[in-house]
Amino acid sequence: MADTKPSLHTSMSPALLHLYDAAQATVVIIDVLRATSTIATALYNGARYIIPVDSVAKCIELGRQINCITAGERDGRIAEGLLHGNSPLEYTREFIEGKILVLTTTNGTRLLHMALDKGAREIITGSFANLTAVSNYLINQTNNIILACAAWKDRVNIEDLLFAGALVERVKEHFSISCDASHIAQTLYKKAAHDMYGFIKSNNASHYNRLMNYGFEKDIRYCLEPDLANVLPIYENGKLCVY
Ligand code: MLT
Repeated sequence: MADTKPSLHTSMSPALLHLYDAAQATVVIIDVLRATSTIATALYNGARYIIPVDSVAKCIELGRQINCITAGERDGRIAEGLLHGNSPLEYTREFIEGKILVLTTTNGTRLLHMALDKGAREIITGSFANLTAVSNYLINQTNNIILACAAWKDRVNIEDLLFAGALVERVKEHFSISCDASHIAQTLYKKAAHDMYGFIKSNNASHYNRLMNYGFEKDIRYCLEPDLANVLPIYENGKLCVY
């Protein structure tokens, strides 16, 4: 009998996204360290909405046009010309509630724009911070699913694969998964789940090292903790909102 379940694929890097049919899919943008963790946190703490932009120049320009917080990083550090960075811990309720956040990051917001350019049917963002919200949403989907890892400048990273694996582990019964990348992600997650911080540290993860060098250990620990900001950011009309 034909398998009538929707398909689920994992794209390990933005450089591989073209291999998948985004036009028929809900694309989950994954950038655990730290863009999609920051997005979940800002919305959880009451941001009105987030405008993800793909360049610092656009971020600054929007900051001139509307009343908003302009934020973002390049190579893990606050980008020149912006006042705020990409640390989820910056976006407390006291700071972000009721505000609009315009965000640009090296990999995460770039990938979101790539998915848009590929005509993605639907775009949501995922991170450990909103693991349950995303997995519950996927379970009820009839669209195919692409778990799209932001990676680092097209190079595969461990932390995004771990989150893809956590999602696969939670939703696998509901999808047809003929995808080695998804199986690899799931295997990796099962190996790491008992101590994800220790796992990425002992495997010398590149962005772990980069962020540690900048003093962001607290961010890393926060970003690996499940369900601290359990909302579902959905992209519509240029904005990421919680409905
Ligand atoms: C990105 O989008 O590349 C990341 O979120 C980088 C970061 O950790 O700020």
